[in-house]
Amino acid sequence: MDRTLVHEITNNLFLLRMVDDQVRYFEALWEIPEGITYNAYLLRTSEGSILFDGWKGEYTKDFIDTIKKVTDFNEIKYVVVHHMEPDHTGSLKQVLELIEPKPLVIGRPMVKDMIRSFYGIDVKFKPIKKVEEIKIGEYNLMFIPAPWLHWPETMVTYVRELKTLLTCDAFGGYGIPHKIFDDEEPDISQYLRGVKKYLATVIGSYKSHIIKNINNLLRLNIEIKILAPGHGLLWRKDPKRIIDYYYHLAKGEVKERKALVVYDSMYGFVERAISKIVKILSEYAFRVEIFEFNDKERAEISEIISEASDSSFIVLGISTYENDMFPLMKNVIDMLIKKVNREVPILVVSSYGWGPVVGTKVLEAIKNSKFKIVDVIQFRGTTTEDFETKVKNIIDRVIA
Ligand code: FEO
Repeated sequence: MDRTLVHEITNNLFLLRMVDDQVRYFEALWEIPEGITYNAYLLRTSEGSILFDGWKGEYTKDFIDTIKKVTDFNEIKYVVVHHMEPDHTGSLKQVLELIEPKPLVIGRPMVKDMIRSFYGIDVKFKPIKKVEEIKIGEYNLMFIPAPWLHWPETMVTYVRELKTLLTCDAFGGYGIPHKIFDDEEPDISQYLRGVKKYLATVIGSYKSHIIKNINNLLRLNIEIKILAPGHGLLWRKDPKRIIDYYYHLAKGEVKERKALVVYDSMYGFVERAISKIVKILSEYAFRVEIFEFNDKERAEISEIISEASDSSFIVLGISTYENDMFPLMKNVIDMLIKKVNREVPILVVSSYGWGPVVGTKVLEAIKNSKFKIVDVIQFRGTTTEDFETKVKNIIDRVIA
């Protein structure tokens, strides 16, 4: 199967897409069985070609072959680097080696030094210090700084004549779309699950910057006919939909009564307590998403982080392990704080053998986050008779 794709998305602007169905852990961290795409773009102008971004290093040869399908290398006069993370720049060095005379690289000021440090090369460079519009051939390109989407050096480009916004990481998602544009995709809601997971895991720590950057974009009053990110689906029918989707997720807005339940259970004690809680949550009309770590199951952290981003209530079931939290749950809490950090109520239940230490440890871990622990119920192996009553009282408070 050819995993590369070239498509003229609008006049003279080409999508160069690589389907990465081999990656299992994005950033060597996040489980993504759904895969990802790397989207670079190339604009042909009367003044030569402009290449926007690139692909991950291991696909450099494919990238070079794909570029050749739309332009001669020596026609490339400009290379725009929206973002330095190597899933977009891993191919940069070898691509630049093939271009003569050397093109002008355009990016945020930090990019020049980053290219030298990452790839050991010096480039002819035009720094973009603030919003700046440059005419190249028959096209006006507006370069718009978009810091922390996803690194500090990030920017996006608006091609005025094409009413097209190239956004690199911003407004992207995990998953391999069936087609190119939103109006061709058979199941957008399924695709949006991958967007939610991508936003939570990759840009989740920078939610306030998502909001700030979207507001900045709106203030520019530009008409966006096509929104073309560096990962996933392109938006043509309804670019506003993906902008709004990002905005609401970044705000941490909750659309339904949904409980996220994450627990470990070594020998079934925590699991039995959690079963009681799940039954009660259902009685209270919560939709419940359950993730577990036990001797047969190991939940995906990326899914937990994703579901935590729009849950209205979180329940954590934690075993005591060597006078501390069960290690995998400790990692979950650490990731929730780093990536999600919302004002969401959390109920902690914990089982212990000889000392109830987990409650104190969780409170300590979470004290500087936005999460709010509504209660900690600790029990020695089995829950006490009043367990269900306690849980109901807690949920009454949560939904009040
Ligand atoms: Fe797709 Fe932050 O790189």
